[in-house]
Amino acid sequence: MSLKMLAPIHIPVLVNETIKALAVQPGGRYIDCTLGAGGHATAILDHSSPGGQLLGIDADPEAIKIAEERLEAYSGSALLINDNFANLQTICFKYDFFPVHGILFDLGLSSLQLEDRGRGFSFQHDGPLDMRLSPDQEVTAADIINTYSQVELAQLIKTYGEEGYRRKIAQHIIKQRPIETTLQLVQTIEQAIGGRRGKIHPATKTFQALRIAVNQELEHLKTALIQAVDLLGFNGRLVVISYHSLEDRIVKQFMQQESRADNARLRLINKKVITPSQAEVQLNPRSRSAKLRAAERIITKDEYFKTTEKLCFSVGVEAGGWRRPVLLERLRRAFSAA
Ligand SMILES: C[S@@+](CC[C@H](N)C(=O)[O-])C[C@H]1O[C@@H](n2cnc3c(N)ncnc32)[C@H](O)[C@@H]1O
Repeated sequence: MSLKMLAPIHIPVLVNETIKALAVQPGGRYIDCTLGAGGHATAILDHSSPGGQLLGIDADPEAIKIAEERLEAYSGSALLINDNFANLQTICFKYDFFPVHGILFDLGLSSLQLEDRGRGFSFQHDGPLDMRLSPDQEVTAADIINTYSQVELAQLIKTYGEEGYRRKIAQHIIKQRPIETTLQLVQTIEQAIGGRRGKIHPATKTFQALRIAVNQELEHLKTALIQAVDLLGFNGRLVVISYHSLEDRIVKQFMQQESRADNARLRLINKKVITPSQAEVQLNPRSRSAKLRAAERIITKDEYFKTTEKLCFSVGVEAGGWRRPVLLERLRRAFSAA
C-alpha cells in the first residue's frame, strides 16, 4: 500500500489556529519540528506560497517517508530532516535555515505511530514493548520494565505518569517479569489496580510515563524551546501544541519566564491557552486534550547579531567545519532580507 494512502489517517489538530498564531505569510520561512504525517506542514506551505520555505524535522524515519510522499508537490520549498528536535540549532546552522518567521511544535505521537502495533505505543493493541521514536535509540520500554528496580519504576511512573497507584504497579511488574509485550504489561497493571477507574484506561498513565522516559521527551522539549527562541527573527512566532499536563507546564512556564524578565525575549500572543472547538473534538477525538500556546520574539537588530555571533561560535565547532565569518556574512544577508 502506498504510504500516501496511510497519511490522511492522522488528522492535524488546531490547523487554522496554528496558521494564525504563526502569522504565516507569503515568502516566509518556517520550521515544523514535529513533521509527523505533514498535515501542519502542508497548511504552512499553502499559506506561505509563493516563496515560502519549510524545514520539517521528525525523529521517526517512518514519519519522514510519509511526509516526503505527501509533500512531493512542494519539494522545491520543503527540506525534510530525520533528526531529534533537541538538535534544532545544529540542524538550522548546518542547512543555513535561519533566521525564521515561525517555529511549530505539535508534540507527542501521530495516530499512525499509535496505531502501529509493532511500535508498542498503544495499550489497545498487542505488540512488543518498544516505544522508541527512532530505531537509533538504544533503550526500549521493555529494557526499562525489565531492568529498573521497584523503587525506580515507582518513581518513573509517578514523575512521568502522575499515577497514584505507582507502588502497586511497580510491585506487580517486578513479580511478573520478564514482560515483553504491551498486552502483558496491561494485564499486569490491571491485576495491580483492578479494572477501569473513571473514564481512563488503567494503563494510560503508565504507558505515558514509559513513552516519556524512553524518548526523554521532557528534556528534549526544554532543550529545543531554548534553541528555538534564538532562531526566530524580528517578531518571529513560536507555537506549541501539547497534549498532556507535563508538557504544557513546561511550555507555559518557559513562555511566561521569557516574557516576564527585564530583558524579555518573548511576548505572549494569547494570555489564555487555545483549545479545540467542540466541533473539532467531535470530528477528531484525539484533539480533545490539545493546548496551543504562542509567543512572539522581541529583539533588536543589535541584540540579534550579538546572540547569533555567540551561537555561531559555539555551534560552529559541533556542526563541523562552519567558518564563523562566512556564516555571519550569510546571516547578515538573510537578516537584512527578512
Ligand atoms: C502529533 S505528531 C505531529 C503531526 C503533524 N503535525 C501532522 O500534522 O501530521 C508528533 C510528531 O513529532 C515527532 N516527535 C516527537 N518528539 C520528537 C523529537 N524530540 N524530535 C523530533 N520529532 C519528534 C513524532 O515522531 C511525531 O511524528
